[in-house]
Amino acid sequence: MTATHSFQDEVVYQIYPRSFQDSNSDGIGDLKGIQQRLPYLKKLGVDVLWLNPIYRSPDKDNGYDISDYEAIQPAYGDMTDFEALLNAVHDNGMKLLMDLVVNHTSDQHRWFQESKKSKDNAFADYYIWRDPVDGHEPNNWGSYFSGSAWTYVPARGQYYLHLFAPGQPDLNWENPEVRQSVYSLMKFWLDKGANGFRMDVINLISKPADLPDAPQAAGAEYGNVESLVADGPKLNDYLQEMNREVLSQYTDILTVGEMPGSTPEDATHYTNLDGSELNMVFQFQHVNLSPNPDARLGKWNDQPVKLPELKQAFARWQVALDGKGWNSLYWNNHDQPRTVSRFGNDNPQYRVISAKMLGTTLHMMQGTPYVYEGEEIGMTNVHYSTLDQYEDLESINAYQALVNDEKAVTPEKMLKYLSHISRDNARTPMQWDDSTNAGFSTVKPWFALNSNYPQINTKQALADQDSVFYYYQKLIALRHDSDLIKLGDFELLDPDDGDVFAYKRHYNGQTLLVISNFTANEVSRDYGQEHADSLLIGNYPDDQARVLRPYESKVYQFNN
Ligand code: NOJ
Repeated sequence: MTATHSFQDEVVYQIYPRSFQDSNSDGIGDLKGIQQRLPYLKKLGVDVLWLNPIYRSPDKDNGYDISDYEAIQPAYGDMTDFEALLNAVHDNGMKLLMDLVVNHTSDQHRWFQESKKSKDNAFADYYIWRDPVDGHEPNNWGSYFSGSAWTYVPARGQYYLHLFAPGQPDLNWENPEVRQSVYSLMKFWLDKGANGFRMDVINLISKPADLPDAPQAAGAEYGNVESLVADGPKLNDYLQEMNREVLSQYTDILTVGEMPGSTPEDATHYTNLDGSELNMVFQFQHVNLSPNPDARLGKWNDQPVKLPELKQAFARWQVALDGKGWNSLYWNNHDQPRTVSRFGNDNPQYRVISAKMLGTTLHMMQGTPYVYEGEEIGMTNVHYSTLDQYEDLESINAYQALVNDEKAVTPEKMLKYLSHISRDNARTPMQWDDSTNAGFSTVKPWFALNSNYPQINTKQALADQDSVFYYYQKLIALRHDSDLIKLGDFELLDPDDGDVFAYKRHYNGQTLLVISNFTANEVSRDYGQEHADSLLIGNYPDDQARVLRPYESKVYQFNN
């Protein structure tokens, strides 16, 4: 295999626009702010920028509820600002990915406003409507954001489906007009010069025939839909049609489908290297480890992940997709807690070293790495302790449902779970410097800053040659220069070792050996590292061969 596709050479940086850089002093990040920071991103060395949704939205779910796909959210700027940003990104030799949110729209979208009026209007079948069954919801489906996935509309005498919040009705992909409307909005952005899409929960668009009940945990109020709706019967057909009608009509674009619940076997179809569907997917197996043993609580837990399980999760994807598809590589995004807090150690003594260790472990795998804003300076979880500090509807609704309604967990426990795993951990504003408001804004930000910004910020990182920033810069540069890193196959070493994550990559007779100590203890391991031809990168200033100091990580190359 050789790198025949540009996405196999690239590193993506994810920007959460609300929290990246405010340029007009309203406390909310915006497009001009992003443009101001392009030199910083260029210096990091990333190739592609992905923006979370910037479209007009009532913002019930921070932009994942879109009311107009062809307009910019006023708080972020306008179309002129977008075009200026896109040109500047291109002038800097980078690409721009848009977020495509088409499993659902906002309930304020014109299509839904019409659809809900009657059963016989032009948009009547744009959404998934069902008659009541015995005066109740059509099935037991629960929403990802707690409560029922159905809401009743008296004007139609029917329920509509929303896998997420009631303000996010699911589009009816069975309707060819819906699909054509989606293709048309995709072309709108690609014609402007956008370089591709990150596709929100795209594996949920094809619902199972007849919408049967979902598996329901003992004591749970609703069924858990994911196993039922993920990778539905027509998903491959829809993606192929989208590819034929839109994606294949443009050159050199990048597509990544967010796919909760997908398996590597499914993903070999979606990411098939013949280019008939998508380039890669965001899988969830490594971030969904350590679920709560009480199935009603699902993702809400405060337990560390067991390293052998984490290794197996990555290895499964690395091996299954090698030569057949392509992986995305990520620790962090706007839905996940900060990786240094979850998988590393955010204690000041170990924060920098463990952030570098995690970066090494991920960036040396096969796939396209994604860096989420702030990850490159080792930003940490925010460690909130009261509910009123949270902003995210998933967290707030879950507390309401699990603590107040179902009494499935105590308030104290739930606050611990939120502090460990809530999405808000990733959404605090970017920490640029140690001035008031961290250089993010001149006024109070829309969401509180992490109080550690005086110590952890880009100004500090850029002034310190030993920072996480320069380490990530090196990881990115190493990948750009090495077919072994880009394309080598993957071999997991010692799967049961609970302390050390070690693997090899092989390509054209060369071998890469990656060894990472996931603990705060010194350990010793012999992988023949003394015989390596070179040490490509390591997070300690010297190499003590078999000795692995706390969170030490090193990468060796063997030439033959
Ligand atoms: C996945 C997105 O990443 C998340 O932020 C959003 O809440 C849901 N999809 C619904 O759009």
